Amino acid sequence: MEIEQIPRDELRIVPLIKRHELASFNSKNDDLNEFLKNDALKDQEEMINKTYLSFWKKSFVGYFSILADTIEVHAIDENDGIQDYPYHKYPSIKIARLAVDRRFERKGIGGFLILAAIGLAMSVSEIIGCRYVTVDSKPESISFYEKVGFKIVEKYKCSEFPKMYLDLYPIVSMMQPKESLEEFEK
Ligand SMILES: CC(C)(COP(=O)(O)OP(=O)(O)OC[C@H]1O[C@@H](n2cnc3c(N)ncnc32)[C@H](O)[C@@H]1OP(=O)(O)O)[C@@H](O)C(=O)NCCC(=O)NCCS
Repeated sequence: MEIEQIPRDELRIVPLIKRHELASFNSKNDDLNEFLKNDALKDQEEMINKTYLSFWKKSFVGYFSILADTIEVHAIDENDGIQDYPYHKYPSIKIARLAVDRRFERKGIGGFLILAAIGLAMSVSEIIGCRYVTVDSKPESISFYEKVGFKIVEKYKCSEFPKMYLDLYPIVSMMQPKESLEEFEK
């Protein structure tokens, strides 16, 4: 029976380690397959990228790699930035690679991987300044990222891999506990 959507609570995320078997991974993007098999572990050991794999039951279904990044101030819409910010760049976390095995596409795994990456960026922002999540999207995946709130940087709209960003500030603000309990005390 064909599975439609995989429930998120059945998906696991684990950091990449040496003994993971990667050879069978086959997304529809060859560069992303090659990166995972040839470079991900080496980059991780050299502290350039950190890669996380996702499993459903015993199947390896997808992965993403993230790293520290910056984004130019003028790439960010005025409403998503800080007024009179005195530097040229904002701190960010970049989703450098993200792919789902083609046998498991369109079952919610890609969406789950992005949320997991955003969750990690939010954890980082608790201890290190980090305002945005960035991605250099494949043109055919732009709407995939837009669905979770990423915006395209106008300046790079026509480049080979258009840069996109997600502002963490509104998400984090929404999650802040209210400073006062006044409204509950009436
Ligand atoms: C893009 C990719 C990660 C999507 O993964 P997936 O598991 O099929 O995505 P999901 O099933 O979680 O879909 C999430 C949402 O994005 C939509 N979506 C999925 N692929 C899409 C695409 N290529 N274009 C537009 N929307 C897409 C889905 O319809 C879904 O929308 P909904 O929430 O409104 O139902 C996967 O197709 C892939 O690995 N592609 C090759 C590598 C790649 O392009 N990586 C991303 C760019 S770096």
